[in-house]
Amino acid sequence: MKKDTLNVGLVGYKFMGKAHSNAFKKVGMFFDPSVKIGMKAICGRDEAWVKEAAEKYGWEDYETSWEDLIKRDDIDIIDITAPSNFHKEIAIAAAKAGKHVFCEKPLALNLKDAREMLAAVKEANVKHQIGFNYRFAPAIQLAKKLIDEGKLGTIYHFRGLYLQDFIVDPNFPLVWRLDKKVAGSGSHGDLGAHLIDLARFLVGEFDEVIGMSETFIKKRPLVEKMTGLSAQAQEGAQMGEVTVDDATLFLTRFKNGALGSFEATRFATGHKNGMSFEINGSKGSIKFEFERMNELQYYSAEDEEGLHGFRLIQATEDVHPYADAWWPVGHVIGYEHTFVHEMYEFIEAIAKDKPTSPDFHDGVKCSQILEAVEVSIENRQWVKVDSL
Ligand SMILES: NC(=O)c1ccc[n+]([C@@H]2O[C@H](COP(=O)([O-])OP(=O)(O)OC[C@H]3O[C@@H](n4cnc5c(N)ncnc54)[C@H](O)[C@@H]3O)[C@@H](O)[C@H]2O)c1
Repeated sequence: MKKDTLNVGLVGYKFMGKAHSNAFKKVGMFFDPSVKIGMKAICGRDEAWVKEAAEKYGWEDYETSWEDLIKRDDIDIIDITAPSNFHKEIAIAAAKAGKHVFCEKPLALNLKDAREMLAAVKEANVKHQIGFNYRFAPAIQLAKKLIDEGKLGTIYHFRGLYLQDFIVDPNFPLVWRLDKKVAGSGSHGDLGAHLIDLARFLVGEFDEVIGMSETFIKKRPLVEKMTGLSAQAQEGAQMGEVTVDDATLFLTRFKNGALGSFEATRFATGHKNGMSFEINGSKGSIKFEFERMNELQYYSAEDEEGLHGFRLIQATEDVHPYADAWWPVGHVIGYEHTFVHEMYEFIEAIAKDKPTSPDFHDGVKCSQILEAVEVSIENRQWVKVDSL
């Protein structure tokens, strides 16, 4: 029976928990989804904090155990924004309970777990989507359209950077993001995963990879308090080992013959969320910088002689995907809007029984590339992605 409301249960209430809560709130305000969205319950382990989050973000109820959240029969969708080591267990249990599943990236700690998650959602025949939110920026959608229309011709290069600096200080504590058992990897799976997804979305599948990585600061003080990306350690705190990469760089050959280079680092002093890429083709090029996310630079080799140059397109016109749902032309949008767009698409896919995108299959493909790079680093040689 078709439902007129899809009820959501959200696991996690911090960085992504807040971004997703905001998205569920805004979808109905700015878009016209085919069904209503019920913000039924939010889940976290600390009762006082999750209660406060429920009230502040507008959830009807809260739970302190994700198992209890999944057991509820008034919930249709489980949305996972817990740290990456919990993704597999929660997603598989949710699928088994017949819930549709949205999961943050990276899908899992490793390729094997990611494949198990994909098998579980397919077996349960539920909808599944992964949080590669950057795909949903209007300028990225425009980039995709230009490439699909052949405006760049044959693609030769993808050159991607994801530069942050939030852990440059050696006294920045040992948060979960620096623990392999919880995060899977460091800059690679956190930042590199987004670049990999965008490269797959815009250029195509990866054939082979070779990489290098480094952990510049090997020991850090144990964490005392953490909020989002900022955390504090007590003076004289005990030290613990960093078990993930601080920076990972790799090269790829795409199956269509294009070449790619990728750099993901948390040690690019001065860069806060510097995700950018350039794509060069036989007929043109595009450039994108996330911190100027409303803009796409486009160069056409077919422009009139004497007028060649990169043009700056502001992707805020009604013809640009999602832009007409927001403000008049030139009234720019931001980071949080990418989450509203991804949730709108997920809800529509469930309501209209359409395919979701990017789904857990895309999550598995990303994990396969992440792991191929890790194997290449370990063995100091090229690795065929499909060999894993
Ligand atoms: N799409 C993106 O750009 C993006 C950005 C940041 C993080 N992420 C991903 O989102 C996930 C969460 O990252 P974050 O930055 O929001 O982390 P965070 O530390 O800010 O929040 C994690 C949340 O999970 C909750 N949690 C932890 N263990 C739990 C458990 N056992 N049961 C219930 N709740 C639990 C915590 O209470 C907290 O609310 C990670 O997988 C990360 O890779 C994605």
